[in-house]
Amino acid sequence: SGTLTVGELAKKLHKEPSEIIKKLLFLGVMATINQELDKDSIELIAGDYGVEVEEEIIIDETNFEEFVEEENEAELQERPPVVTIMGHVDHGKTTLLDSIRNTKVTAGEAGGITQHIGAYQVETAGKRITFLDTPGHAAFTTMRARGAQVTDITILVVAADDGVMPQTKEAISHAKAAGVPIIVAVNKMDKEAANPDRVMQELTEFELVPEAWGGDTIFVPVSALQGEGIDELLEMILLVAEVEEYKANPNSLARGTVIEAQLDKGRGPVATLLVQSGTLKVGDPIVVGNAFGRVRAMTNDLGRRVKSVGPAAPVEITGLNDVPHAGDQFKVFEDEKTARQIGETRMIRQRDEERNETSKVSLDDLFNQI
Ligand code: GTP
Ligand code: MG
Repeated sequence: SGTLTVGELAKKLHKEPSEIIKKLLFLGVMATINQELDKDSIELIAGDYGVEVEEEIIIDETNFEEFVEEENEAELQERPPVVTIMGHVDHGKTTLLDSIRNTKVTAGEAGGITQHIGAYQVETAGKRITFLDTPGHAAFTTMRARGAQVTDITILVVAADDGVMPQTKEAISHAKAAGVPIIVAVNKMDKEAANPDRVMQELTEFELVPEAWGGDTIFVPVSALQGEGIDELLEMILLVAEVEEYKANPNSLARGTVIEAQLDKGRGPVATLLVQSGTLKVGDPIVVGNAFGRVRAMTNDLGRRVKSVGPAAPVEITGLNDVPHAGDQFKVFEDEKTARQIGETRMIRQRDEERNETSKVSLDDLFNQI
């Protein structure tokens, strides 16, 4: 547990700091606004206002690990794999994502207007797969910088007429650092100059060796442009998922990661969340990074309103008081009071950090000018 300054406590209690200082004086404590208070003093003052202090109020953590309950093995159920597509510029990442989406819109949902919310789900052979629609590199770097791991499988797209290029290598190192299995999609097979053997040859240098050559890396020849090999690619994803056995408990309060977020003129802060555990419902009290609120409306990747979504589903939500960042963690709480307390603590901490950042920057600037 941590501490609060007089100023922070005043804010939490919605009182003037001077009033708190006066109360402390009555207790025989001379305090200034920036003075840190011990737990007993906080409880005394808060109790004076009829406010009960919960341990959570003063928890100071950047993620929600302390709130994560032990997962009960018996409660775990199979969940869809979450897939990111990476590869060199122009090798066909966007074309492949579009092609997969167009050929395999979630069954029973055909006809929905596709919305770009940063992720989508497809259904094949009765199983779902979640694709992150954000550029793979950005997803990995910003999210991993925030300690978030959202990807289960990486599709490495390599153009058969171009071979391994700098960003191909970068993608491999990102995936390896994250310990994420790689499936190679050898793209642009329709091209005259396609040379898949060369791609395989070049990738052996990175320990990506096809089964035919004694390795264990899956290679799938595709033409994203013509929609060739897409079914095989999806099959291979499901095969890896079967081996890795991705699981989550759908019967708990939801938690997961922000895929992207922005301020919408009409709707306010809008965030695309990837639910990683539990079920997210409209009305849930939620903390998202340093923002909080109640889930007001949820929209899926087809632009449809939904009331609840389970593990590995991407969903766009409104109802937050602020715009979170990609890679932020989110967590639903039992009641709005707790969500608000935790959200406010985080906001204060963020403001403090920003203040520190600003002063650091200006000091650096000063030195630069000298
Ligand atoms: P960046 O986002 O700029 O890194 O590129 P990207 O990897 O998303 O590539 P994109 O999907 O934009 O494709 C680049 C070009 O290659 C486009 O002109 C596509 O039409 C073309 N292309 C993609 N896949 C194929 C394919 O399978 N065959 C052929 N012939 N062209 C393809
Ligand atoms: Mg692209």
